[in-house]
Amino acid sequence: MTLFSVSRPIRFSLSLFALLFAVPLAPTFAADVDGRQFVPMSPEARVEMRAEMLDFLTALQQIITAISEGKPGEAADTAENLIGLSAMGRHRDAAPNARPGRFMPKDMHMIARGMHAAASDFAKVARTGDPVKALGALQAVTGACVACHRSYRTQ
Ligand code: HEC
Repeated sequence: MTLFSVSRPIRFSLSLFALLFAVPLAPTFAADVDGRQFVPMSPEARVEMRAEMLDFLTALQQIITAISEGKPGEAADTAENLIGLSAMGRHRDAAPNARPGRFMPKDMHMIARGMHAAASDFAKVARTGDPVKALGALQAVTGACVACHRSYRTQ
C-alpha cells in the first residue's frame, strides 16, 4: 500500500505523528542506533590518528602473515615496533593541536594504552614459537581495536 492510497485522516495522523514524535526524536534516535560516544578532535589530530591507524592495520597484516609463515620472531618485532609500547609517543613532536591523546577521554586513552601493552605482551608470547598461544595473545590486541572503535567515534 503506497502512501497515496492512505485515506486522508490517516495521512493526517501519520504526518502529525512525524511532526510530534519522529522529527524531534530524530537526533536522539540516531545516537541510540550508533551508541558510540562522540569525541570531538581537531582536524589535525584526526589526520595524525588516521595515519597511525593505517600503520596499525598494515602491521596486523604483517604479523598474521609472519605467524602463518612460521616466523614468530618477525611477528614479534613488527608488533613491538609498530604497535607495542615502543610505538608510543609517535605524536610527541606534533603541534599540540595535532596530538590525538589530548582530545581523548580517560577511558579511551586507557584502551589505547592497553593496546600498546597487549602488543608488547604478544611479542613476548610469539617469541616462544607457539602459534596458537601467539594468536591468543594477538586477540588481546585486536580486542583493543574493536573496543575503541565500538565505543568512540570522531565524526
Ligand atoms: C583508542 C582508540 C582506538 C584504538 C585502540 C584503535 N583505533 Fe583505529 N581509529 C580510532 C579513531 C578515533 C579513528 C577515526 C579517526 C578519524 O578519522 O577521526 C580510527 C580509525 C581507524 C581506521 C580508519 C583509517 C582511515 O584511513 O580513515 C582504521 C583502518 C583503524 N582505525 C584501524 C585500527 C586498528 C587495526 C587498531 C588496532 C590495532 C585500531 N584502529 C585501534 C580509534 C582507535
